[in-house]
Amino acid sequence: MKSKSKLSLSVFFFIFFLYLAAVTSDLESDRQALVVLRNSVRGRPLLWNMSASPCTWHGVHCDAGRVTELRLPGSGLFGSLPVGGIGNLTELQTLSLRFNSLSGPIPSDFSNLVLLRYLYLQGNSFSGEIPSFLFTLPNIIRINLGENNLSGPIPDNVNSATRLATLYLERNQLTGPIPEITITLQQFNVSSNQLNGSIPDSLSGFPQAAFQGNSLCGKPLNPCDATAESPNSPPGPSPGKKDSDKLSAGAIAGIVIACVVVLLVLLFILFCLCRKRKKEENVPSRNIEAPVVAPTSAAAIPRETAGNVPPAKAESGAVNKDLTFFVKSFGEFDLDGLLKASAEVLGKGTVGSSYKASFDHGLVVAVKRLRDVVVPEKDFRERLQVLGSMSHANLVTLIAYYFSRDEKLLVFEYMSRGSLSALLHGNKGSGRTQLNWETRAGIALGAARAISYLHSRDSTTSHGNIKSSNILLSDSYEAKVSDYGLAPIISSTSAPNRIDGYRAPEVTDARKISQKADVYSFGVLILELLTALQGNLQHISN
Ligand SMILES: *[C@@H]1O[C@H](CO)[C@@H](O)[C@H](O)[C@H]1NC(C)=O
Ligand SMILES: *[C@@H]1O[C@H](CO)[C@@H](O)[C@H](O)[C@H]1NC(C)=O
Ligand SMILES: *[C@@H]1O[C@H](CO)[C@@H](O)[C@H](O)[C@H]1NC(C)=O
Ligand SMILES: *[C@@H]1O[C@H](CO)[C@@H](O)[C@H](O)[C@H]1NC(C)=O
Ligand SMILES: *[C@@H]1O[C@H](CO)[C@@H](O)[C@H](O)[C@H]1NC(C)=O
Repeated sequence: MKSKSKLSLSVFFFIFFLYLAAVTSDLESDRQALVVLRNSVRGRPLLWNMSASPCTWHGVHCDAGRVTELRLPGSGLFGSLPVGGIGNLTELQTLSLRFNSLSGPIPSDFSNLVLLRYLYLQGNSFSGEIPSFLFTLPNIIRINLGENNLSGPIPDNVNSATRLATLYLERNQLTGPIPEITITLQQFNVSSNQLNGSIPDSLSGFPQAAFQGNSLCGKPLNPCDATAESPNSPPGPSPGKKDSDKLSAGAIAGIVIACVVVLLVLLFILFCLCRKRKKEENVPSRNIEAPVVAPTSAAAIPRETAGNVPPAKAESGAVNKDLTFFVKSFGEFDLDGLLKASAEVLGKGTVGSSYKASFDHGLVVAVKRLRDVVVPEKDFRERLQVLGSMSHANLVTLIAYYFSRDEKLLVFEYMSRGSLSALLHGNKGSGRTQLNWETRAGIALGAARAISYLHSRDSTTSHGNIKSSNILLSDSYEAKVSDYGLAPIISSTSAPNRIDGYRAPEVTDARKISQKADVYSFGVLILELLTALQGNLQHISN
């Protein structure tokens, strides 16, 4: 009896150790793969502590003892990715290497990454063709290969990726036609390539900006010229063309009559629309109460929502009840839902107060109540359309807005780590320890990228209110710039003196801002990042 139980005990331990060995050896192979990666890429060294577990390394996230996420965005990495590196991280679900200077092909062993869901490689110099195996990865949801040097065709097996929602390929050297796409993509961009041929019908609902900078034709761009030899375009009336050159008097009369009828119909529609508009304006605007202030437990938002990559703008201007949405990927809600969500005051800024609104179903958003909006509704909406069309990894995503006479609300993605200002000067000791030099440099770089993006939109676009409390931080301490482009619609008198430390000396009216003034404010921000060691830097802002 006794020997039997001893035996079973030892069998148990044997199996247990086998299991332990299996787990550790898997993590060991993940470690080796990461070391291969580290030794191959040049540039800023990856300061990984070799005597510690890879799960503690910067940019590496583990789940159940395996590496599931590798995020090294904007880390100054050079060189090409090795085979036997990332491709050996077989449990990887998220790979973000965006905005580095990586070159060479996308490694062939990425085909081993069968659990990969999110692939962000935009903003590098990857070259070669887009490997078709990316679309046979069974779990892939987002592929962002924008702003690289990829050439060749778009693989024609895109439809194999049945879960794919995002495909960004803009600013590459891709050639050939866009393949027929039957899966339902939510986000798509192939602008600034060398694609030709006609746009498949299934993609005609995406905005023009998603296709511009190619030789493409068809909805939403100009219709394909029927005489051009486009294999995809429907056959034009070329055979009977000779006959139709000479139009009979009857045909001309028919065309004239048709034109007149169309014109009348258009006028009628216009008339109806105007009347409807008038009616809407007469409806008394709803009086909205401030969101109820009730403390909520800080509901953890799912990582995807916290946003690694900005979800591209869905069709802008889609009105959901009273809110105007720019981005639908965060989830659907309406104004009533928003007002019923439990809210918590986040702070009072120069443009208004911010709240954290948590919905019952787990969605968390940040709501900004604008104060002292000085422009009429039309200008406000125009401005918001511009802001809503902006999309950058280092800008806080504007999800929706609401406008009525008494209330102007902006809905942003919620950033759980709060603002840089709070982190630098706050008295929560726990947060500050995270801010080592590498993180600070990353934050400065991220903010600079966002500002440069704003400035590149056009020469008059500027942020207008750069300061540490407008630099929010994502889960991975990436800078997310908020409150961009609001200065022109807010009364200048409402800006308290507090921002004066950041304001360029020549700026006397807070609404007359310039890109140069942004650069000045950014300089002050850098100074603050460099000097704010243990909190208190109030003298800078006074
Ligand atoms: C990567 O995986 C391959 C095949 O499993 C193996 O031969 C190779 O040694 C691995 N490389 C590393 C660095 O672990
Ligand atoms: C590296 O990790 C080991 C073990 O966790 C630790 O003792 C050591 O202090 C770490 N070194 C550095 C430079 O952080
Ligand atoms: C892009 O790739 C082409 C070859 O495909 C190469 O000649 C060119 O130098 C590359 N450009 C950049 C910026 O890497
Ligand atoms: C697209 O371009 C390629 C070469 O650049 C050419 O061979 C092909 O005929 C073009 N297709 C269309 C539809 O214009
Ligand atoms: C597509 O990318 C281009 C940059 O090449 C950008 O200007 C445009 O706004 C993007 N369009 C969409 C719909 O994302």
